[in-house]
Amino acid sequence: MNAPAVAPIGPEAAALLGALHAAAFPPADRWTAHAIGLLLLLPGHFALLGTAGAEPVGFAMGRVAAEEAEVLTLAIRPDAQRAGHGAALMRALMAQAAGRGARDLFLEVSSENRAARALYAGLGATEAGRRRRYYPDGSDALVLRLPLSPCGAAPAA
Ligand SMILES: CC(C)(COP(=O)(O)OP(=O)(O)OC[C@H]1O[C@@H](n2cnc3c(N)ncnc32)[C@H](O)[C@@H]1OP(=O)(O)O)[C@@H](O)C(=O)NCCC(=O)NCCS
Repeated sequence: MNAPAVAPIGPEAAALLGALHAAAFPPADRWTAHAIGLLLLLPGHFALLGTAGAEPVGFAMGRVAAEEAEVLTLAIRPDAQRAGHGAALMRALMAQAAGRGARDLFLEVSSENRAARALYAGLGATEAGRRRRYYPDGSDALVLRLPLSPCGAAPAA
C-alpha cells in the first residue's frame, strides 16, 4: 500500500467520513454522516482525511477552544490498519491544533482499546484522568493528555 498522506477535509465530505467511521467502529459506536457534517460546521472543529494513493483510508476529527484541543474521533478502515495511517493522522491533528493556538490535546479512550492506547502512548500521551465504567461495555474511559509544542510535536522530555 502507498505511504500515508493527510489533507484537510470539510463538511461536504460528510458521506465519505460517515462511511469510514462505520467501517472502523462497531454499530453502537458509529456516527452518522449527518452528525459528522453538523459537527464540522461548528467553530473550531476540523477534519483530516488519510489517503493511500487516491484511496481514502481513514480520518481524524478535532476541535480547538482557546488553548485546549480535543480529538473527537479517529477511524482507520480495518483493511488499512497497522500501516501508519493512524499515527500520521494524529501527528497532523497535533500540528493543526498547535497551529490554531492549542497547547494541550486531550482525548478519551477505552481502557480496553489496546490498539488506540498503544498508538497514543507512542505519541507521548499520559493519563490525565479516568472515568470509571464510562462505556456501555463497562470499560473505563481514560482521559489522555498530549502536550503540544508550537510546531505540533510533543516536546522532548
Ligand atoms: C486505533 C487505530 C486508529 C490505529 O490506527 P492504525 O492506522 O492501525 O495505527 P498505526 O498503523 O499508525 O499504528 C501506530 C502504532 O500504534 C500501535 N498500534 C496500532 N494498532 C495496534 C494494534 N492492533 N495492537 C497493538 N498496537 C497497535 C503500534 O504501536 C503502532 O506502531 P507499529 O505498527 O510501528 O508497531 C485503528 O486501529 C482504528 O481505527 N481502530 C478502530 C477505531 C478506534 O478504536 N479509534 C480510536 C478511538 S479512541
